[in-house]
Amino acid sequence: MGTASGSTLQAAAPAARSARRPGLDERAPFLLAARRERPQVTPVWFMRQAGRALPEYRVLRSGVPMLRSCQDPELIAEITLQPIRRFGTDAAIFFSDIVVPLVAIGLDVDIVAGTGPVVADPIRDERGLAALRPLEPDDVPYVTDAVRTLLAELGDTPLIGFAGAPFTLASYLVEGGPSRTHARTKQLMYRNPRLWHALADRLAEITIGFLRAQVDAGVDAIQLFDSWAGALDETDYRRYVAPHTARVLAAFENDGIPRIHFGVNTGELLTAMAEVGADVVGVDWRVHLDEAARRIGPGRAVQGNLDPTAVFAPADVLADKVSDVLLRGAKAEGHIFNLGHGVLPETDPGVLAYIVDLVHAG
Ligand code: CP3
Repeated sequence: MGTASGSTLQAAAPAARSARRPGLDERAPFLLAARRERPQVTPVWFMRQAGRALPEYRVLRSGVPMLRSCQDPELIAEITLQPIRRFGTDAAIFFSDIVVPLVAIGLDVDIVAGTGPVVADPIRDERGLAALRPLEPDDVPYVTDAVRTLLAELGDTPLIGFAGAPFTLASYLVEGGPSRTHARTKQLMYRNPRLWHALADRLAEITIGFLRAQVDAGVDAIQLFDSWAGALDETDYRRYVAPHTARVLAAFENDGIPRIHFGVNTGELLTAMAEVGADVVGVDWRVHLDEAARRIGPGRAVQGNLDPTAVFAPADVLADKVSDVLLRGAKAEGHIFNLGHGVLPETDPGVLAYIVDLVHAG
C-alpha cells in the first residue's frame, strides 16, 4: 500500500500500518476479508498447512515428539514459517496443538502419532475437575517467545493464534482420547449437567488464558477450533456448549482482531455457531458456502471450504471445485479461502501451491 503524499503529518504517516503491530499491513487481504471489506485477491491459507504433508516439516520433526516441538520456540517459529515460504499463503497459523494449554497446567496428555491426544487420567468426576487450574502467560513462555520471533519474521503476513473450544477439549479429557461418538462426554452432559458446566467453565478459562497469552504477544487474529461440536444437535449445542464458547469469544471482543470459529460437520449448527460471536465462521466442505452464508446470516465473513480430498482429483476437476468455492464464497460478505478441514498428510504440496495460484488468480 502506498503512503499518501499529503502535506499533513497524519497523511504522511503510513495510515494502513497497524497500530497493534508496526510491521503489519492493516489492508492485508486476510484482514480485509475478515472485516468484510473486499480485498483485490481472495486470501487463502490452509488448516494444518504446517505438518506432515511438507517434507521440510518431516525433517524438522524427525526424532522430536509432537508436544516437545510445541514447547520449543525455535521449532515453533520455523515450522510456522515453512508453509509461508513455500506457498505464500495469506496467513500463518501458529504451530501448536489444542492440548498444549492442558499440558502446560500439568495434565498428563500425550499426542500419539496417527491417533491424536491421549489423556492418562480422564476427567469424569469432581476430583478430576480439581486438576484444571487457570493458565497464566508464564505457563507458556515458549508460546510468547515464538509469537514475538514470528512477528518479526512474518512482516506483512498476518499470524493466526488458536485454541481448542471447551467442548472439543472436554471431549478429549472425558473420553481419554479421540472418539467417534463422544458418548461419554454426552453422558456426562445429560447425567450431570452441573459437573459438565463446571468442566466447560474451567476449560473456557484455560482457553481464554492460552489465547490471551498469544494475543498479548501480538498475534493478528485468533481461531477457536470446536472441531467436534458437529457431534451435537442444535438444542444440545445451544444448551451445553454455546454459552461457554461465547464467553471465550467475548473475552477478545475489544482486542481489535478477527475472531474465527470453526468446527467439522457443523452444517446444522451454523446458525447457532454464528450467534456465539465470531467475526468469521469456518465451514466444512459438506455445505456450499452460499448456503452456509445464508445460515450464518449478515455481519460475518465465512472461511472455507474445499474438500481436503479434492487435492487427489485431476487438475481440471480440482480447478472446477476451487472455482465453485470461490463463486459461492463471493456471495458471502467476506470470504477467506481454506479447506473444509485440515490438510491430509498424504497431500502433494505441489497441489496446495496450485490451489493458492488458482485462488489468487480468481
Ligand atoms: O498448521 C496448523 O494448522 C497449525 C497446527 C495445528 C496442529 N494441531 C498441529 C498438529 C493445529 C491448528 C492443531 C489443532 C488441533 N489439534 C485440532 C483442531 C483442528 C482440527 O484438526 O480439527 C485438533 C482436534 C487437534 C488434536 C490433534 N492433534 C489431532 C486429531 C492430531 C492428529 C493425530 C495424527 O497423528 O493424525 C494431532 C496431532 C497434530 N497436531 C499434528 C500436527 C501437525 C500431527 C502430528 C505430527 O506431525 O506428528
